[in-house]
Amino acid sequence: MKYLERINSTNDYVKEHLEELDDFECVFTMNQFKGKGRTGHTWESEPYKNIALSILIKDDKITKKFGLVSIVVSLVVAEYLERLGMEDVSIKWPNDVYVKGKKICGILCEGSLPKYMVVGVGINVNQTNFGELNATSIKNELDFEIDPKLVAVDIVDAFKYRMTYLGDDLAEAVEEYCSKDYLLNKTISFMRNGEELIGIAKGIDFDGSLKVLYNDTLINVSTNEVNIVRKA
Ligand code: BTN
Repeated sequence: MKYLERINSTNDYVKEHLEELDDFECVFTMNQFKGKGRTGHTWESEPYKNIALSILIKDDKITKKFGLVSIVVSLVVAEYLERLGMEDVSIKWPNDVYVKGKKICGILCEGSLPKYMVVGVGINVNQTNFGELNATSIKNELDFEIDPKLVAVDIVDAFKYRMTYLGDDLAEAVEEYCSKDYLLNKTISFMRNGEELIGIAKGIDFDGSLKVLYNDTLINVSTNEVNIVRKA
């Protein structure tokens, strides 16, 4: 794993150093000053309190399963937080991790498929003040501090281990994800062909897409923003 003292975005760093970095190599920092979020948002993090990491994947057997990789990484983070002692950990499709309804981890997967993908993970570790944001941290939930670098090492180890799921037992990963699915049975809005539609979230599929009940038909939604309209 490669530690960077200060960097704009670990995802961008990986994309700019593709040739030098090996398959499954991880880059991480505690001082990311221009973190990127999904759908053009930014990812803010107080310096030296949290961890930002990016894992490069070059193996095309894995990059072909892009949607599923993003699901496995959120499962790994959720399970890690449970091992630390947290309760009520859920995953909001495709891969935000929430604790008691507050966001603790954001994941941004990027890449040029099937050549490579970058799995970027930001976890709030010791930050205690999030202003207006509906966010929390390990410190806020468990009342102790952890070295953010250790969090990164544990997450990357667990991720490499769990990637074996992509080889064979997909059903188990999908089932585990569904048991932590924050959106399940909630009424959501989603975009399709430039139009905002309303449906009910019904879990995820084997390719990592969201299953949505829309007009009495089960359809698959794969990217874009999904918003909760109301709880079912
Ligand atoms: C989101 O919640 O919208 C996704 C946030 C992803 C943040 C991580 S931090 C490490 C990696 N580098 C980035 O610039 N972004 C991701």
